[in-house]
Amino acid sequence: MKLLAIFCACFTYFISVISQTTITPNTNNDTVLNPDASYCFEFTWIGPGYDENYMYNGTCTDYLDETRAKHVPCSPPIVVSDDGTFPDIDWMFANKRNSVLCRRTANQVCATYTYKYDGVVNNATYMCTKVQEIGGSAITSGCYTQTVAGYEVEVCVCKSNPGLWKPCNGNF
Ligand SMILES: *[C@@H]1O[C@H](CO)[C@@H](O)[C@H](O)[C@H]1NC(C)=O
Ligand SMILES: *[C@@H]1O[C@H](CO)[C@@H](O)[C@H](O)[C@H]1NC(C)=O
Ligand SMILES: *[C@@H]1O[C@H](CO)[C@@H](O)[C@H](O)[C@H]1NC(C)=O
Repeated sequence: MKLLAIFCACFTYFISVISQTTITPNTNNDTVLNPDASYCFEFTWIGPGYDENYMYNGTCTDYLDETRAKHVPCSPPIVVSDDGTFPDIDWMFANKRNSVLCRRTANQVCATYTYKYDGVVNNATYMCTKVQEIGGSAITSGCYTQTVAGYEVEVCVCKSNPGLWKPCNGNF
């Protein structure tokens, strides 16, 4: 299995987000989710520019290359909704659960990394990751915001409990 390691120093103000995830949509290759494990949502919505008529067929690596994005997290799968709106998380949890969850290891958190412009979400990455204060300790809860090139970048962090319920990063 190919591993894509994203080191993301993008949220540089006072925390960093470190994401280590696989290229394959089903991160841990579980066909049956384990009720004793903890899960987070893991996917990337690349924004309202894509819909059923304008699909994006590439991988995260392709997308980041094509958009020349640097220090931006992207966790597969890339999710596009039919009408270009933000994907319905409850629907994905009910119907695509095997593709949009990652198994959270003990030293990881569930996180969302969201770009907003003028209060509207432009794109978002959901993932199992590590978040830490630069030069400091691990961050396990809360939302942190900074402005980058006119965008409001928000990182929200939580720790899911074991079990097959909707992971905590679906509730921000
Ligand atoms: C893991 O996923 C790949 C791709 O879907 C599949 O071909 C393979 O059989 C899976 N392996 C196991 C052990 O489930
Ligand atoms: C999200 O939008 C920002 C601003 O346009 C861009 O720099 C970044 O690469 C985008 N990230 C993803 C995963 O689409
Ligand atoms: C993307 O995939 C869809 C469905 O497989 C296909 O119909 C479409 O032609 C593809 N688009 C491109 C640009 O490859």
